[in-house]
Amino acid sequence: MDETFITLEFRKGILHLIDQRLLPVKEEMFLCSDYRDVEFAIRDMVVRGAPAIGATAAYGVVLAAMEYADVFDSSKEAFRVELQKACDVLEASRPTAVNLAWALRRMLSKYDSTSCSSAAQMIGVLHQEADAIRSEDIATNKAMSKIGNEIVPPNATILTHCNTGALATAGWGTALGVIKEAHYSKKNIFVYADETRPRFQGARLTAWELMQAKIPSKLISDSVAATLIRDGCIDLVLLGGDRVAANGDVCNKIGTFMLSALCKLYGVPFYSVVPVSTIDFSIASGVDIPIEEREATEVTHPGGVQVAPDGVEVFNPAFDVTPHQHLTGIITEVGIIYPPFKEHIEQIRLSLVR
Ligand code: MRU
Repeated sequence: MDETFITLEFRKGILHLIDQRLLPVKEEMFLCSDYRDVEFAIRDMVVRGAPAIGATAAYGVVLAAMEYADVFDSSKEAFRVELQKACDVLEASRPTAVNLAWALRRMLSKYDSTSCSSAAQMIGVLHQEADAIRSEDIATNKAMSKIGNEIVPPNATILTHCNTGALATAGWGTALGVIKEAHYSKKNIFVYADETRPRFQGARLTAWELMQAKIPSKLISDSVAATLIRDGCIDLVLLGGDRVAANGDVCNKIGTFMLSALCKLYGVPFYSVVPVSTIDFSIASGVDIPIEEREATEVTHPGGVQVAPDGVEVFNPAFDVTPHQHLTGIITEVGIIYPPFKEHIEQIRLSLVR
């Protein structure tokens, strides 16, 4: 089973993104014709979700390469400087999800390791690499879904937070991918989706994806989760991750930490589902992860409607860190990581450098 919508697609030199700011009310595409459009799309959350912004940024590099094709023909050094500048602009669009920097690094290292004699060849190489990031992400999500489905008991009631579906990735999804896999393998699951304030990714996007996939579900306001967990109504919590530290601390959408503490208290299994590209091996623990703080209007004017007094001061971090002690496991495409997380994550790092 696959989605009927496309999250991101590069066609005829234009990057097409489904405009997630408008969902579920309108299904419209946002077109990016240069890398500045891509930077805007990521910063303004036309596209969001860690793997999705990584793949989107990769196409931003292709657009930059197209823009500076003439510079490539006259001076490869000057072109490399322009490419780096474009990557710096793209990387600054959102600071927390590591997939963004990971994808940009991969694009630059592809460029640096390939000797191209013409601009057309160079653009082709970068285009192919961006396509590879996109298609590998979908394949990775499908692999994680199969692995993750093994820990989903039949008839499970699952709680999820934010949006981790096809919209948050190049396609299929991470935690929502596991949920879809469990549903399509006829496990008779039921899903509670947190609305996920202040941007309502759960209400606007996850509820929409769950309904498209015909998965039995209910939308809840974020504050309901505690009651459901205490009352034994939740068998399993599955959510994504924007950056995983080397000790297994998981940075994810604001509200994740609160859920993890409740699950720890009431003994509910709590899993993060992430591709290995979301692990930042260079960060020892979650305290070092940069947390994006977004504008006050997200809280004071949800959906453009004023709900708070003029001039009120607001604290609006977009993410929080769940300590690894609260996690049952981290589901990846190379298997489920269980405690001790630090040792097991180090084994994955070593297998990548071999
Ligand atoms: O601010 P967002 O909507 O980009 O935050 C997204 C999340 O926190 C997701 O849970 C995370 O990126 C994992 S998505 C596969």
